[in-house]
Amino acid sequence: MSESKKHIVTAALPYANGRLHLGHIAGAYLPSDIYVRYKRLKKENIIFVCGSDEHGVAITISAIKEKTTPKAIVDKYHEKNKIAFQKMGISFDIYSRTSNQIHHKTSQEFFLELNKKGILVEKTESQLYCENDKMFLSDRFVEGTCPKCKSEGARGDQCENCGSWLNPTELISPKCKLCSNKPIIKSTKHFYFPLGRFQNELEKYVSSKKNWKPNVKNYCNGWFKEKLGDRAVTRDLEWGIKVPLNNADGKVLYVWFEAVLGYISATKEFGEKIGDPNLWKNYWQDPSTTYTAFIGKDNIVFHAIVFPAMLMAHGNYLLPQNIPANEFLNLEGGKFSKSRNNAIYLEDVVEKYSVDALRYTLASILPETKDSDFYWKDFQARTNNELADIYGNFINRTTTFIQKNFNSKIPAVGALSSEDKNFLKELNDLPQKVGDLFEKFKFRDANNQIMDFVRIANKYFNDSMPWKTLNSHPEKCKTTLNNCINAVQMLAVVFFPILPDSSKKIWKMIGNNSDIENINWNEINNLKVDINQTLVEIQIPFSKIEDNVIQEELNKLENQNNVDIQIKEMVPIKPIISFEDFQKVDLRVATILSCENIPKSKKLVKLEVELGNLKKQIIAGIAQEVEPSSLVGKQVVIVANLQVATLMGLESQGMVLTTAGTNDTFALVSLNKNVPSGINIK
Ligand code: MF3
Ligand code: ZN
Repeated sequence: MSESKKHIVTAALPYANGRLHLGHIAGAYLPSDIYVRYKRLKKENIIFVCGSDEHGVAITISAIKEKTTPKAIVDKYHEKNKIAFQKMGISFDIYSRTSNQIHHKTSQEFFLELNKKGILVEKTESQLYCENDKMFLSDRFVEGTCPKCKSEGARGDQCENCGSWLNPTELISPKCKLCSNKPIIKSTKHFYFPLGRFQNELEKYVSSKKNWKPNVKNYCNGWFKEKLGDRAVTRDLEWGIKVPLNNADGKVLYVWFEAVLGYISATKEFGEKIGDPNLWKNYWQDPSTTYTAFIGKDNIVFHAIVFPAMLMAHGNYLLPQNIPANEFLNLEGGKFSKSRNNAIYLEDVVEKYSVDALRYTLASILPETKDSDFYWKDFQARTNNELADIYGNFINRTTTFIQKNFNSKIPAVGALSSEDKNFLKELNDLPQKVGDLFEKFKFRDANNQIMDFVRIANKYFNDSMPWKTLNSHPEKCKTTLNNCINAVQMLAVVFFPILPDSSKKIWKMIGNNSDIENINWNEINNLKVDINQTLVEIQIPFSKIEDNVIQEELNKLENQNNVDIQIKEMVPIKPIISFEDFQKVDLRVATILSCENIPKSKKLVKLEVELGNLKKQIIAGIAQEVEPSSLVGKQVVIVANLQVATLMGLESQGMVLTTAGTNDTFALVSLNKNVPSGINIK
């Protein structure tokens, strides 16, 4: 291993309170894995660390929701996520967890060191406190209106709508997330990290990084304009890493303060596992190491500002050399969202599809410069029309030709025509081109570059017409096939970081005894398939995905979406009524005959409905939720015996039942099959 190129690569530690979805993979894990696999082939010295982020309010809230303990939550999801990553081929050297002792110790020592240096500031400040739940409400325990952009549902630490960093006390009409009560203000003592003291140094640091992606730089500059202030690094919470000081009972380190240190603890754990407990110093404290932090864009401030400031304050650590943050991956045109269940979960798809097909599709659409979309149909198209029909086809026609006509023996190369020479030039230029793109974190372009070469290779095969030259010019035919099998081998290597599984198979299929992981990328141009080799049993590395499989996924997504939208607040159940009272309400099935907007009313529509041989006019306040014409012919449930009311001068002779929600949570009460209109509901 060349000691000069030493790397530590980290990927954001996912919270262990939910399953991973493809949005996570496209954000940080596939890009980092491609990068690391490439660097390993370059024979550079690299450690790739990740693990579960197991503290913080998000975990506590999940535990309350699932009626269990934070420990049970993190144990469950740590295992699940670890396995799902493995199956996806994400090749961490270690997948650690922040509940490990080694991490508690590392973060407590780090905190004490900053405190000893007099960097942390102790302040007593007013905070929100819920008298009902008897706790201080920080971060996600409180919600309210954002003071900056006025959008609702801003959290205590951040407004997701405008991205501003907030203090809970700044929220307009705050509410406790657990009981919805209005919190009171109470004072509490905390440790603060004075980010402002590091602003100059941080600005210099960021501006010195010429190759950072513009999205990351712009984001930081936005923060610098706002002037950095003190940020609390402790919290009043049960679950977390105890503040290691006397009279700090009930206080823990703020999750973001310790989670980023998890990268260091994970490296320590890795060293211990391989019997080299001091190994971490050789990376984190050696200036010849390059540190690269892969994250999604929602983590930029913590990795590009807070973490570097902490490391500067400590003084004895490397700062990130690059932070290639990705934007978001959307799903079928909407946002990937765990809370709305609009997601494709990793554990489901790794079982069902070829992992390489998933990796290939994600690599083709990585949100490197802007948000991008995953569409099931696009996944199918890329798998079938690109992986199978272009790449798979090239491998297949080359290997079967050799099998049939040369008895599986690799034919020798003869005199080269100018076409052969051109092709070999493209082939030999490929690793350099692809490598340059990998180095620049342009994984999408690298992927396209390789696929473009496969197209060239197919064309070369066609134009060379080996099926004709086989008899007319056997030497030429052998040359063509020798060049093609060398191209297959080269493709397996350059595609390895993206498609590790199939590359391994193809490598063996060519008859190689060595492992593809042991190949040295720097020497691949000299690496010719040995003519004494024999092809091993030929398998088609990519299979196609049928239409009905994709349709099922789309249906599933739609059901998931419809069923599992969470309501923000449960409206209290009304007082008990008697059965007689209930029977007074006459509910009926009605068929909508017409529905139109009412001029000058934003909310109301006029419906004509049919109940058996009766017709009724109903005025309903649903104009903002549905397109009126889309309702014609639908069956709905109505209250048929409601006192007549007059709205905007029009008589309303009943009421259409709908949910009380808006947008995603709005729905008409409908039936699961058509029935005669007018039938009563009991
Ligand atoms: N758990 C955080 C998230 O999923 C990421 C933490 S990254 C670390 O958004 F640096 F803090 F570890
Ligand atoms: Zn409360």
